[in-house]
This record gives sequence, structure tokens and C-alpha cells, in this order.
Amino acid sequence: MSEAAAVTATATTTDAVVTATGLAKRYPSGENVLEVLSATDLEIEAGERVAVLGASGIGKSTLLHLLGGLDHPDEGAIAFRGRVLAEMSEQELAAYRNQEVGFVFQFFQLLPEFTALENVMMPLLVGREARGVRERARKLLAQVGIEQRGHHFPSQLSGGERQRVAIARALVREPSLVLADEPTGNLDVDTGKRVMEVFARIQEERGAAIVMATHNAALLDGFDRVLYMQPGGRLEERPVGAAQPVGT
Ligand SMILES: Nc1ncnc2c1ncn2[C@@H]1O[C@H](COP(=O)(O)OP(=O)(O)O)[C@@H](O)[C@H]1O
Ligand SMILES: [Mg+2]
Repeated sequence: MSEAAAVTATATTTDAVVTATGLAKRYPSGENVLEVLSATDLEIEAGERVAVLGASGIGKSTLLHLLGGLDHPDEGAIAFRGRVLAEMSEQELAAYRNQEVGFVFQFFQLLPEFTALENVMMPLLVGREARGVRERARKLLAQVGIEQRGHHFPSQLSGGERQRVAIARALVREPSLVLADEPTGNLDVDTGKRVMEVFARIQEERGAAIVMATHNAALLDGFDRVLYMQPGGRLEERPVGAAQPVGT
């Protein structure tokens, strides 16, 4: 069997972008162990928009970090287009994180010593892309409605503005998988809708899949699936229209 065929043979039969199978994740908690995820299964198809709802502290961020290759599960496997992350080389995993995934962090994680525009440009500069970097970053800041704030440092921005910088940064490399952790948590309703429109556009134009964690059932119009995280991380699907707010 050729190498290419071998890779195909281990791939899933659907056109899943990312799959998670039997994930478990435990954290030390004093003398005890906190088992946040014990049996999480998930499959995201290309171009799908999926919301993961659940109460604060249930494990949504944990799941997104695992999917993005930012942390390792204690059990189970995550695969991107059929390739298991745990079997990737450091270089391949870095390429996955930097090129395929656009991660919107719940707490933004902007670089404080760089301006908003520079923060958005950063993934392109790290990826050694030189051409049109500034223009692409500007365009994204405009799409999320803060083109006037490009020269400000994170400390000079409101929480909602920082959040939008983080969203622009996640999208600037045109990822195939957007993992957005409470991306509208600090935004008013109109700005939140605008961000959802930006997500919808990259999904339509580029076929990007989007997994969005939220504890807010609003703004889920146009989502293909709504999954409710249960204690232990099991994901229960409910009809999109029936989304109910969950406690925070
Ligand atoms: N690095 C860590 N060490 C210990 N406990 C953690 C760590 N990260 C998260 N937790 C705990 O795991 C649980 C799930 O956290 P998280 O995934 O952030 O929940 P959510 O995003 O749904 O609010 C929480 O109880 C949290 O305190
Ligand atoms: Mg969280």
C-alpha cells in the first residue's frame, strides 16, 4: 500500500473535518481528580456550524482546547480529516494549530505590547506571509466593526473590542475549522449578530466548519446543530429552534 493509501485507509468514511472519539480529560483538584470529560464523542462535517451549549464550568473550553490541539486528552482520540492529532509530528501539529484552526479564546489572549492591527496580523507574520498582510488584517477589523481601533493597544480597548480583535485574528489565515469560545460573551446583541454574520460568510465562502461554545442560546440562527453538554461531557443534540438558555 502506498503511503497516501495508508493515510486514506485510516480516514473516516464521511467527509468529517474533525472527529473526537471517547474523549476523557481529568484535572487534579486538591487531593482529588476532577473528571471534566469522560466520554465525549463529536463529529463535525465540512462547512457545518455547530453550537455547544452548557452551563459555566461544564467543560466547553476544555473540549475546544482539545479539538484545537492546544491540550491532550487523557483518553480517546481527535482526528483532523482522518489524521489522529496524537500521531502527528510536532511540526504537523503546529501546522494544524496555525493554519487549519482559527481559535477564538474565551479570554482573548491578545499580545499586550502590540496594537490591535498587529495582533490580527500576527498569525500571518508567524506563517511568514508577507504580501497584503496589513490589508487583510484591516479588512477583518472592518468586518467586525472596529477598523477605527487598529492602532490601539489591547489595554486601550473595551472588552467587546478586544473580543472582536481576537475574532479577527482567528479568521485572518482563513482556517478550515473555527473554534470559537464564547465569542459573543462581551458583545451587545447587534455586535454579536454582526460577528455571527462574519462567521456565516466564511462558512459560505470558504466552507469552513465552525464550532462555537456558548452558554447563551441566543444568536443560533443558521446553526446546523445545537449540542448540549451534559456532566461528563456527553453531547446531546436538540433541535436548533428549541435552544433554551442554560444557567451560568
Ligand atoms: N487547567 C485546569 N486545572 C484544573 N481544573 C481546570 C483546568 N481547566 C479547567 N478546569 C476545571 O474544569 C471544569 C471545566 O472547565 P471549562 O472547560 O473551562 O468549562 P466551561 O468552558 O464550560 O465553562 C471547571 O470546573 C474548571 O474549573
Ligand atoms: Mg469556557
